[in-house]
Amino acid sequence: MKAVVYQEPFTVSVQDVEDPRIEDPTDVLVWVTSSAICGSDLHMYEGRTDAPSGLVFGHENTGIVEEVGPGVASIKRGDRVSMPFNVACGFCKNCLAGRTGFCLTVNPGFGGGAYGYVSMGPYRGGQAEYLRVPFADFNCLKLPPGDEHENDFAMLADIFPTGYHGATLAQVGPGETVAVFGAGPVGLMAAYSSLIKGAATVFVVDRVESRLRLAERIGAVPVDFSKVDPIEAIREQTQGDGTDKGIDAVGYQATVPEGEEQPAIVLNQLIQTVRATGMIGVVGLYVPGDPGAPSEEAGRGELLVRFGKLFEKGLRIGTGQANVKAYNRQLRDLIIAGRAEPSFVVSKELPLEDAPDAYARFDKREEGYSKVVLKPGQAKAA
Ligand SMILES: NC(=O)c1ccc[n+]([C@@H]2O[C@H](COP(=O)([O-])OP(=O)(O)OC[C@H]3O[C@@H](n4cnc5c(N)ncnc54)[C@H](O)[C@@H]3O)[C@@H](O)[C@H]2O)c1
Ligand SMILES: [Zn+2]
Ligand SMILES: [Zn+2]
Repeated sequence: MKAVVYQEPFTVSVQDVEDPRIEDPTDVLVWVTSSAICGSDLHMYEGRTDAPSGLVFGHENTGIVEEVGPGVASIKRGDRVSMPFNVACGFCKNCLAGRTGFCLTVNPGFGGGAYGYVSMGPYRGGQAEYLRVPFADFNCLKLPPGDEHENDFAMLADIFPTGYHGATLAQVGPGETVAVFGAGPVGLMAAYSSLIKGAATVFVVDRVESRLRLAERIGAVPVDFSKVDPIEAIREQTQGDGTDKGIDAVGYQATVPEGEEQPAIVLNQLIQTVRATGMIGVVGLYVPGDPGAPSEEAGRGELLVRFGKLFEKGLRIGTGQANVKAYNRQLRDLIIAGRAEPSFVVSKELPLEDAPDAYARFDKREEGYSKVVLKPGQAKAA
């Protein structure tokens, strides 16, 4: 089958790889209809992780079940399914507590497993024609048959639940003010989720004009950090108090307005923006080791965070991979009920063959490439 394969920094190619097969009785094979490209893929694409060449990318997968292992009880051939980016067992301590991003079984010694991601276990990605899904009863979310809402459902594998997780970590509630840093797909989903949870005012900070316009379209207040100091701008619009809550949807590759990377800048800006005793949800990615870091300390994942200020203000922080399975069923039902339409972030649908070009353009944050959904199944469907 064809798949998107990482070669070296700034190069992916579409090539033939071995077809996946049922390896364990609890596996299914899925014919992939949608597999989105994520900002998380860009960290690997830019050589800012230890991703090995030959890795098949793709952790945001939706498709139709093609083959079912003999130990699978609830999923059958032909079912339309969404797979959380987290691969999880369903029976370990963390899975039982709903913390499926930190499954103790599928990738021992590391916090959790995922498809097509460095250090996250041996699970090949779904930017490919077919995907092997382990522990399928647990890892497949059934979708209504047909192809309705395909791009909305494609957001259920990662960014909609991840944005929602950011808002949940920050315990966003009705009537609150929230500052979201980053208007990439994850930041936009965090803002959207905060509004779903009843926030009164949501500020979204970024510098990319088209992304800020999308934030405005969903009812958030855009803040362009290349034009104003976001801390000051938000303070002014909150009677000097700062916001109740904050969400980091940028991560360690955050930049200053001039473009240079400063890995702790967003964390420090949130510490300044959120009012005393507020809460901060960090879903932007931070890594324990960064081969391309701007300083030796940052290379070891040691960041200059203003912890004294954090303590003085009594702030609380939640971090980590999103436990997609904790939210994906509920968010699916919001989509079905017509109460959420996360596909507003999708800017392009492309065949698998266009992945190399799409990666290059998304990496430059080019207009129209904010969320690309690859459609590997198109050839077969035709
Ligand atoms: N925790 C999880 O489970 C999870 C899941 C998916 C993605 N992520 C992470 O979330 C982050 C965002 O993902 P994405 O797909 O939206 O990526 P993205 O790269 O498209 O978006 C990041 C945005 O941050 C903006 N930005 C950079 N510096 C900034 C600053 N100082 N202030 C405000 N905005 C700034 C950029 O302009 C860009 O629009 C990535 O780090 C990704 O790895 C985490
Ligand atoms: Zn993702
Ligand atoms: Zn588990």
